[in-house]
Amino acid sequence: MSTDTPESAASPPTRTPSTPSRRTFIATTSAAGGVIAAGGLVAGPSLLGAQEAAAAEASPSSRVSLTVNGKKHTVTVDNRTSLLDLLREHLDLTGSKKGCNAGACGACTVLVDGRRVNSCLTLAVRLDGAEVTTVEGLARGERLHPLQQAFIDQDAFQCGYCTPGQIMSGVGCIQEGHTGSAAEIRESMSGNICRCGCYVKIVRAVEQASGRK
Ligand code: FES
Ligand code: FES
Repeated sequence: MSTDTPESAASPPTRTPSTPSRRTFIATTSAAGGVIAAGGLVAGPSLLGAQEAAAAEASPSSRVSLTVNGKKHTVTVDNRTSLLDLLREHLDLTGSKKGCNAGACGACTVLVDGRRVNSCLTLAVRLDGAEVTTVEGLARGERLHPLQQAFIDQDAFQCGYCTPGQIMSGVGCIQEGHTGSAAEIRESMSGNICRCGCYVKIVRAVEQASGRK
């Protein structure tokens, strides 16, 4: 039976005089202030000019043109900007709410080209040319959208934080025709969380606006 340990069994790495050890390689790289490029070559500051370094550090941004509530906007945003942040921070449309910022609560729901989306998960730069509708775009002057009126009639909110998202999701639910029954409405709006537990009245409001009640 062999008594070799894994270390003693492994053959030592062959190192030619020109091959640096791991220790000398790291020490040399750090001292030169350089970067390790593909293939193990070391590029010093002279190869990476200040301009290139600044460009590499700057966040990439893009211009995006989109129509929000019937009004066209062209803005330059960091490529990482979500539609929700574009609406709230660039366009001052704070009706859409940031709950989880992770696609789990539906407070940020808006319509993009007529379809419901979680705006916190949607990159603004992907929406060039899109039509966005937020809760601010539903009323016609002083006349509320039928679903907004139904939320009032049915007393379908308490704190109101989830309400803009619930209303936009309800509008999408009605437009998509998922209002055949209370169960279908509940299923269609299951991505919208209400911590106040107003679900029964929210469903009634959607039923009222869709003409089922
Ligand atoms: S804030 Fe977008 S899903 Fe919660
Ligand atoms: S009304 Fe408060 S979270 Fe829905």
